[in-house]
Amino acid sequence: MIVGQLDKQAVIDAVQSAIAHHGNTRGELIPILSEVNRALGYIPRDAFDEISRLMRVPKSQLLSVASFYQMLSTRPLGKHVIRFCESAPCHVAGGREVWQAIRNTLNLKPGETSQDGQWTLLTTSCLGLCAVGPVMMVDDDVYGNLQPDQITDILAHYQ
Ligand code: FES
Repeated sequence: MIVGQLDKQAVIDAVQSAIAHHGNTRGELIPILSEVNRALGYIPRDAFDEISRLMRVPKSQLLSVASFYQMLSTRPLGKHVIRFCESAPCHVAGGREVWQAIRNTLNLKPGETSQDGQWTLLTTSCLGLCAVGPVMMVDDDVYGNLQPDQITDILAHYQ
């Protein structure tokens, strides 16, 4: 992932590489958007322009796909992204207390990024791991059966 200021050429290169990898068909739109998101950390405006141009898909359609999928972001995120499951099964398994512990540790509200750019705190709907709730993801790592007193140690791994 590229962290920091993105130049336009880096964005265009990421888009062209994703399209070369997946092929230029509309059925590959989500994999292409995902790959660009992974490469750049989010999908900047220039990327939507380039995908729209190369795939002949209206930008409005790309934006609506990107806003539907929670794993895609249209704005820069922190170096590490926490996605905390806020669906009911995790909530009743103790999610509320874990969520409070995360918020207290990071001093962030949902959707916020820390001033040092280290953390973005997001919520997500069910991750399909309800049997081990409460669940959160930190970047690509999944944590289940969370207890509030584990949060500080888990987050310390990413410092
Ligand atoms: S409700 Fe949290 S993983 Fe399903």
